[in-house]
Amino acid sequence: MFSVYHSPPVRVSWHSLTPRKRNAYDALVAIRSSSVRISPTAHYTGYTWLQHGLSHPAFATPTGRFLYQALVPANKAMAATGQGTLDGFLLARHHLIDALLRRAIERGQVSQVIEVACGLSPRGYRFAKAHGDALTYIEADLPAMAAKKRELLERAGGGSAHHRVVEIDATADAGDTSVDAIAAGLDPARGTAIITEGLLNYFDAASVAGMWGRFSRALGRFPHGLYIADLHLGEHARPVERVFAGLLGVFVRGRIHFHYPDEPAAAAGLTDAGFARPALRAPEDHVDLIGPVHAPSARAVRIVEAWLR
Ligand SMILES: C[S@@+](CC[C@H](N)C(=O)[O-])C[C@H]1O[C@@H](n2cnc3c(N)ncnc32)[C@H](O)[C@@H]1O
Repeated sequence: MFSVYHSPPVRVSWHSLTPRKRNAYDALVAIRSSSVRISPTAHYTGYTWLQHGLSHPAFATPTGRFLYQALVPANKAMAATGQGTLDGFLLARHHLIDALLRRAIERGQVSQVIEVACGLSPRGYRFAKAHGDALTYIEADLPAMAAKKRELLERAGGGSAHHRVVEIDATADAGDTSVDAIAAGLDPARGTAIITEGLLNYFDAASVAGMWGRFSRALGRFPHGLYIADLHLGEHARPVERVFAGLLGVFVRGRIHFHYPDEPAAAAGLTDAGFARPALRAPEDHVDLIGPVHAPSARAVRIVEAWLR
């Protein structure tokens, strides 16, 4: 079938293409859609989670497979020269976000989750399976990706009253697709976490400050409010990472932003947004929680763990 983003131009006979060319075609069509310009990266990461045994095959799309395979040589070259790899940093961030969420659930502080910009991540599927009705897990993304995720979740045998996919726009202050409206639909007596993974560095500093303010206000109605996210800091962006970010920026037709030079600056931004206890965790310091990491990759990312009170 075609990508969810567009129908193909009439002169292209998609059915006459080889499977490999169909994948390339779908990837290109997805990349060209301006309303969802960063969404192709969700296909890439979705395929990465499957490659590393973290996902259900339903969440791996042909677009994801094409993009992943296209970047295998770059990943190998980076690993061979001792640089961080895409897989390495994606795994480090994903495992630490999982571990921090699991810890908050096990301590009884969180039993509701809103994952903003869920993409094709398997986290909701895995946590919903592990915790059943004790956890309410809301996956949220822009409309096209939310529809795709809903369809794939159903194909994976997931989805229930306690695990559903909704539409969100993280930049919206109000309205049905705002985080505030989604939070208002949850139980105000239960601790709640908001997660973003792979979202912040695509947005400029003002947009990120706006999102953080919206997240802290939305969490304010719950007895415990936790925000977990990945963030790339300026001090960790060495020349090779900046070149890579530049290439990624061309790919998604927007800039990759390193908003904060270091951890204190990022923590101050979170405090300004209303979080009381922001921590920026280094994956390489948490092997007790996540096991061994590929250090050159893990160093490129920090994980925000910010409680509201
Ligand atoms: C790099 S992908 C990350 C997907 C997933 N979190 C993961 O780590 O695999 C970025 C996601 O952000 C979503 N996104 C982009 N703009 C958004 C917005 N304004 N509100 C909510 N989600 C958005 C895209 O649709 C896409 O699914």
